[in-house]
Amino acid sequence: MKKIISVVGARPNFMKVAPLHRAFLKQKDKIQHLICHTGQHYDENMSKIFFEDLELPKPDFYLGVGSGSHAEQTAEVMIEFEKILHKEKPDLVVVVGDVNSTIACSLTAAKLHIKIAHVEAGLRSFDREMPEEINRVLTDQISDYLFVTERSGLENLINEGISEEKVFFTGNVMIDSLVYFLEKAAASDALKKFDLLDSNYVLVTLHRPSNVDSEKQLQSIVNMLNSVSQKRKIIFPIHPRTKKNLELYSLINKLNSDVILSEPIGYLDFLSLLRNTGLVITDSGGIQEETTYLGIQCITVRKTTERPITVEKGTNHLVGDDFRMAEKTATEILNGRLKNGQIPDLWDGNAADKISEIIIAKL
Ligand code: UD1
Repeated sequence: MKKIISVVGARPNFMKVAPLHRAFLKQKDKIQHLICHTGQHYDENMSKIFFEDLELPKPDFYLGVGSGSHAEQTAEVMIEFEKILHKEKPDLVVVVGDVNSTIACSLTAAKLHIKIAHVEAGLRSFDREMPEEINRVLTDQISDYLFVTERSGLENLINEGISEEKVFFTGNVMIDSLVYFLEKAAASDALKKFDLLDSNYVLVTLHRPSNVDSEKQLQSIVNMLNSVSQKRKIIFPIHPRTKKNLELYSLINKLNSDVILSEPIGYLDFLSLLRNTGLVITDSGGIQEETTYLGIQCITVRKTTERPITVEKGTNHLVGDDFRMAEKTATEILNGRLKNGQIPDLWDGNAADKISEIIIAKL
């Protein structure tokens, strides 16, 4: 029997670990699977609701780390996670994505000579000003098994000198969750709750520090939202960081009444809004992939994407960090200039099972 601890910390981690948990459960004669929640995200609507929606069990360990500067948050996770590793002595630590908890836990495991699997390895924006890019590069360097979601990941890892034997192209666990929960999400009443009509609204999420930490960028976000909302109603579930800054600069009251603000919403309600929208405007990583899978038009307001397949093959429009360009592209799309997309290779709902098989064979 091998013991595996999977780490979750922030919102985008939960939907990646849920399918892995299901896959490991199918192998419970071979694997004992435990979940450690660092507490990087702690609000009910940033964390607990996802455990319920994604049918995840209560975490086996909760580190309760919370917010802080990058150094504080990363260091605190390391100190607490090391205690768990000393006590539990797992055979493998699984980390997903690129948040601070990902690098903190992989670094802790590496120093104790515990093997690490990184799920969603190899993605690169080549922008070292993004905290996530630092987390990705470093986590990949110290991981033993690297599971890749798209071909660009394979190339990036080889270019960084990582041995091909450690790298596996298995598909996308976030899409596993999407495929698995789409039917359940159809029962959500989110559209009704926000008084939205099918395909007749725009869904917005914005939370990257580069977009929402400066007053100037926030002002251009407000201008863009007010302008687009003259054509379609906007639903904007607002991240705590974005809300705090809109309040700080007294901009939150400048949004017009067709921009519907809501608290962050759970996974199933969000899937329902995503599936039924005509257009998404975002700076998220995962939403670029989910819209590509669903064939929904997506405007990504960032200079780069670490997920180039969503632009090359999918329905993603990368417009730079310029909200006037986002507005212009939104107008074109709402006037019918749609991009046709295809689903990328291996985004088929079966990534977690492949990963679990490889892990069992390797451990
Ligand atoms: C983190 C990830 C980012 C991911 C995002 C998804 C890093 C470096 N960044 O960014 O990659 O896309 O999560 O949300 O790991 N806060 C709350 N309640 C919470 C969590 C946070 O109010 O439950 C507030 C706090 O004021 C905190 C701020 O949001 O200071 C930012 O949280 P933090 O975890 O530092 O980073 P995110 O911006 O959420």
